[in-house]
Amino acid sequence: MALTGLVGWRGMVGSVLMDRMQAEGDFDLIEPLFFSTSNAGGKAPAMAKNETTLQDAHDIEALKRCDIIVTCQGGDYTSAVFPKLRAAGWNGHWIDAASTLRMADDAVIILDPVNLPVIQDALRRGGRNWIGGNCTVSCMLMGVGALYKAGLVEWMSTMTYQAASGGGAQHMRELLTQYGTLNAEVRALLDDPKSAILEIDRQVIARQRGLSADETANFGVPLGGSLIPWIDKDLGNGMSKEEWKGMAETNKILGTTLGGGTAIPVDGFCVRVGAMRCHSQALTFKLKRDVPVADLEAMIAADNPWAKVVPNTREATLAQLTPVAVTGTMDIPVGRIRKLAMGPEYVGAFTIGDQLLWGAAEPLRRMLRILVE
Ligand code: HSE
Repeated sequence: MALTGLVGWRGMVGSVLMDRMQAEGDFDLIEPLFFSTSNAGGKAPAMAKNETTLQDAHDIEALKRCDIIVTCQGGDYTSAVFPKLRAAGWNGHWIDAASTLRMADDAVIILDPVNLPVIQDALRRGGRNWIGGNCTVSCMLMGVGALYKAGLVEWMSTMTYQAASGGGAQHMRELLTQYGTLNAEVRALLDDPKSAILEIDRQVIARQRGLSADETANFGVPLGGSLIPWIDKDLGNGMSKEEWKGMAETNKILGTTLGGGTAIPVDGFCVRVGAMRCHSQALTFKLKRDVPVADLEAMIAADNPWAKVVPNTREATLAQLTPVAVTGTMDIPVGRIRKLAMGPEYVGAFTIGDQLLWGAAEPLRRMLRILVE
């Protein structure tokens, strides 16, 4: 059995990954070797078999023993360890949730329900670096990848509504604490049905504007009861790095530009909202030709077992197309599919995905299965 090093398994993405690996019986197929950045020598978790001692995640010799390494430890760890490990002659498979290596020529962004042929081709050519994609891009392609595979997309614009979890565990805590703080501020007025709503509103905005640096340490500004139309770094050209990833990663996942192909334009605005762990996106497609909505729905529904077409009705949308409905499930609902007023080739859609599942953990464990099965 492949000796599989697991790094960062205790964090938020790592914990989701461990749950999914247990649920799918992945540990039956590997010999796990658990690493730690803080507790080397401690006891490995219950999924350990023969290797029951935690290894030092910075020990290159210990890492070199592994046939495969799966890391959710984050980009700083990848930057610190990966080059040393390869320089030390390690030739194993590196499966990584962090973005550090994503755009490297010798790395494949893994999302096998969408790009299994790209993965298989890289494997045949000796590929060893398998990197999980940006959560927003992965969830979007799980939903509407069918339209790309069919060669129908001339361009796509995406407007995102991204959850707090994309920032990390502390960001989720900060959001909820802000909600609690705001509620506490006006509790007495809320309890009095005769109180004036504009007075409640005045006190809420005063509290939001008065939130301290500690109360906004992670997002930098209030998110509870507000939104933040900028995610990740400022690239200096008017784009956020999250927006840049939309086009770069979509085309890399699909392999569009391999062999000199032209990238499909993907652009829009990425916005942080007060959702917990589901990223939502409003999509506008310019298709290469007029295709009936029913045909588009059929293609999306048939593409993979997780993409689910939600009928474009109010009732179905409210029941099935919200972060609350989707959180903790593997489903990628795609709804609000309709022709837009600009013309018959213009199609709108709305899709949601749990950014910790398809957006982070799931592609990693599926790549592991591809390697060990
Ligand atoms: N960049 C994403 C976000 C995280 O901030 O929501 C997942 O790639």
